[in-house]
Amino acid sequence: MAKDIKRIAVFTSGGDAPGMNAAVRAVVRTATYHNLHIYRINRGYTGMIDGEIERIETKDVGNIIHRGGTILKTSRSEAFRTPEGRKIAFDKLSAFNIDACVAIGGNGTFTGAKVFTSEYDIPFVGIPGTIDNDLYGTDFTIGFDTSINTAIEAVDRIRDTADSHNRLFFIEVMGRHAGFIALATGIGSGAETIIVPESATSEEEIIATLKKGVDRKKLFSVIIVAEGSTIGGAHAIAEKVGAVVGKDKTRVAVIGHLQRGGSPSAADRMLASRLGYGAVNALLEGKSNIMIGIQNDNLSYIPFDDAINKKKDLNQDVLGMAAILSK
Ligand code: F6P
Repeated sequence: MAKDIKRIAVFTSGGDAPGMNAAVRAVVRTATYHNLHIYRINRGYTGMIDGEIERIETKDVGNIIHRGGTILKTSRSEAFRTPEGRKIAFDKLSAFNIDACVAIGGNGTFTGAKVFTSEYDIPFVGIPGTIDNDLYGTDFTIGFDTSINTAIEAVDRIRDTADSHNRLFFIEVMGRHAGFIALATGIGSGAETIIVPESATSEEEIIATLKKGVDRKKLFSVIIVAEGSTIGGAHAIAEKVGAVVGKDKTRVAVIGHLQRGGSPSAADRMLASRLGYGAVNALLEGKSNIMIGIQNDNLSYIPFDDAINKKKDLNQDVLGMAAILSK
């Protein structure tokens, strides 16, 4: 039988992502609508262990929908990986009579939630908040759309310089284990080559593409490299293949954390609002140990186990298309 839920807590964990605040707002307002008491946990699992738990009300989430980062702060907690750390966290939640939690984050956040819910009777529903878009069971994660728009804008600017100076630019975007950001940024910015962890690109292939460009007197090029590329980051690749066009004409730019901040896009605000609303309703329907996602514009409910362990595939068709369109 579903647990009677009166008090819920919400927290953000792992890398911040634009739209997390919109999700917090949706959780608080939906829970208020259902007459629940809502608590904020600051700094993710670290704050849970430290007892940084306090009431949050509907007025506290006014004027945050447009803000990047997370008003709840975030962290990556080593202590929560240990049984001792989780026991302290449970005691702290119990001291506030928390009946259920909404966890906003990515793979690491849900891994913690999954272990915790197997040990303690406090239901958790997860909301996918990560710019990487690498969680199985949801078409999009909160923050991805904003981050690719930011990255594309950055590449557009670099392209002006590449064009003006006839240069080859290697531009590295985030994505530790996945190429979703690189693929979307590469297509959206018309890059020559996109290097992603999901598809092996050899140095020889990059050199062949660059040589073809040189032969047809192509004056400038932009190559997008995912942070998690198996042949190294943008600096390493530039070092290995830059000589084809001349090292003096080769430059590297790492977009880095620039693409994680900023005001969320319309798509991220919409997604975050729907997932925050859906997460509270899911808890009230007795769901637990799941991530709420979006598939074909409908809410989906994915066991944490699948969201964490199943691999979300990069669309190989789209990757093939990128190669054709860049010729
Ligand atoms: O998971 C989000 C992400 O931005 C990754 O793309 C990146 O590899 C990582 O976080 C960077 O983490 P940190 O901010 O701890 O350096």
